[in-house]
Amino acid sequence: MRSSIDPLRVARKFNTMSTADLQAAPVKASPFFEEKVLWVKHWTDRLFSFAITRPESFRFRSGEFVMIGLPGVDGAKPILRAYSVASPSWAEELEFFSIKVEDGPLTSKLQLIQEGDTVLLGKKPTGTLVLDALKGGKRLFLFGTGTGLAPWLAVARDPDAYSRFEQVYVCHGVREIAELAYRDFFTAGIHDDPLVGEEAKTRLHYYPTVTREPFERQGRFTDLIASGQLFRDLGLAGEKFNPDEDRIMLCGSMDFIKDMGALVETHGMVEGSNAEPGDYVLERAFVG
Ligand code: A2P
Repeated sequence: MRSSIDPLRVARKFNTMSTADLQAAPVKASPFFEEKVLWVKHWTDRLFSFAITRPESFRFRSGEFVMIGLPGVDGAKPILRAYSVASPSWAEELEFFSIKVEDGPLTSKLQLIQEGDTVLLGKKPTGTLVLDALKGGKRLFLFGTGTGLAPWLAVARDPDAYSRFEQVYVCHGVREIAELAYRDFFTAGIHDDPLVGEEAKTRLHYYPTVTREPFERQGRFTDLIASGQLFRDLGLAGEKFNPDEDRIMLCGSMDFIKDMGALVETHGMVEGSNAEPGDYVLERAFVG
């Protein structure tokens, strides 16, 4: 039988590592930061937002997602889910926008968190809903359903969005009016943002739609686009996206991103990635 090798013992025996190396040895490094909850806001019985402290060494790009979780109780493994960071890349606190699922392994518990509680934060943010994954263009359309709005809270507060695009459209689709979280922020609050407020006043457009009760605008984005209504509502020329000038980000349920991706491809849009920027990018809004 082969005996197992303990790299720390080997290093000590052959003196191949300095004391500092030994202390920093990755063997026992946790993949998570332990952060404190700063605030919690409940929007509806299905939606809430919260913010946690940001570790100094935590870097991310506006629009990326990261693992979030709660420590396991009585030695159990932590429960983790991916969440889009709803804060822009330089923010001092990290904000998240979450669904509450009654029997969801994480959100059934996470919805009970309070200021001062500990939340686990993954160390490796990643994702494709970043400006770098899109080619240059004139108009940036950010389509999110439900908590799929979260990455737009980051992207729409990033000055790069306004230096790379003339107009930015935040399009939020929900079932009920009460789920139009951050409506006040996108129609007013963002105008006071010290970095992008001035640009947002004239170049950020908020386009909400509700599907299951009467509202000033109703219908799924797929239908609003297919009928041309979205383009008419926004005062845009033509009734299709223009692959030369329009760029699109999609975030929502699996069905939503699949249907929207297929639809915008019929307009000639090509999917992009971090390695190869394109006309549109997508990511699933994570639930559970
Ligand atoms: P609908 O009410 O007609 O299902 P959900 O909470 O289920 O993620 O839905 C959020 C919003 O996204 C709802 O307005 C819903 O419309 C809409 N939606 C769900 N699936 C799709 C899809 N495949 N294409 C377009 N919109 C969708």
